[in-house]
Amino acid sequence: MYKLIIRPIFFWFDPEKVHYFTFSIIRLVSKIPGFSALFRFLYQVNDHRLETEVFGLKFKNPVGLAAGFDKDAKLYKELSNFGFGFIEIGTLTPIGQEGNPKKRLFRLKEDAAIINRMGFNNGGVHEAVQRLKQNTGVLIGGNIGKNKLTPNSDAISDYEKCFDALFDYVDYFVVNVSSPNTPNLRELQDKEPLTQLLQTLQNKNIKTQSPKPILLKIAPDLTNEQLLDIIDIIKETKIAGVIATNTSIAREGLQSENKTETGGLSGKPLAKRSTEVIRFLSEKSNKAFPIIGVGGIHSPEDAIEKLAAGASLIQLYTGFIYEGPSLVKAINKKILENQ
Ligand code: FNR
Repeated sequence: MYKLIIRPIFFWFDPEKVHYFTFSIIRLVSKIPGFSALFRFLYQVNDHRLETEVFGLKFKNPVGLAAGFDKDAKLYKELSNFGFGFIEIGTLTPIGQEGNPKKRLFRLKEDAAIINRMGFNNGGVHEAVQRLKQNTGVLIGGNIGKNKLTPNSDAISDYEKCFDALFDYVDYFVVNVSSPNTPNLRELQDKEPLTQLLQTLQNKNIKTQSPKPILLKIAPDLTNEQLLDIIDIIKETKIAGVIATNTSIAREGLQSENKTETGGLSGKPLAKRSTEVIRFLSEKSNKAFPIIGVGGIHSPEDAIEKLAAGASLIQLYTGFIYEGPSLVKAINKKILENQ
């Protein structure tokens, strides 16, 4: 039904408008008595064999919604009804910001991909906190970043502000230094600034009564040498793990006319590289830390590939747009079949 009827209609319109329209529809329909239960009935796979414990957290299944879809924590409850084991909100910044000028989101239909240059459009961390106060049981990751106008020399303070504000309301943190759409952000992936950033957050974290897992989200465009540095940094700072990967600035092998747009590429063309990164980190670190695998998962087989490469959990974004909510269920069923 999604691919046959809903997607062709959605794909007729501007992608960003469709995104917000879909949000309104899901919110509205979920308010009608019985519909949330219907979505759960249709899309959730409730089976204790899917339960996964990673970095001390219990996930009811290993399939999550990736960051960027529900940046402002506006719809995490309703989205969890579609079968996700966890929802990552953000990227959030200390102060709300508009993001880049529109148009900034492009479908690459022939490639089953998206290019986005949203630029951390979000209402700011404090608004999101107010919404998260209503949470009654959805496992939430809090993905944090810095404001566009904050120079890299002050970046740590932005991440600290987000960390402090969200601490009581998320289950794990993600330090996003890998978006290609905030100028110079990815320079924070260099060894020295990254160690400093992660060490500062981890020092703060371990002083709390119950520290939260902190993960680092990395770009797929890092070299093997940089990935080896990442392994060292994780071990040195003792953070909980990695999310691999964010969107890519590479553009190889694309067919669609939008392929020259500036921004981060996600979806099918990203699958191979993100799996390579997961496999590399897993093998070279000797599985020293858990990895959340994300990038181009459009089928249950893609998900199994990520898990086989060394991911403990997986996330979807573009596959959810192209394949619809039944993808989450299909992946969970495949994981059960493979057990
Ligand atoms: C993203 N992604 C993203 N990641 C992140 O850490 N913070 C963010 O704010 C966003 N925003 C965002 C917006 C849009 C429109 C897209 C398509 C993606 C990246 C996302 O979480 C994921 O890492 C990549 O998209 C790769 O996974 P998929 O989309 O290939 O499944």
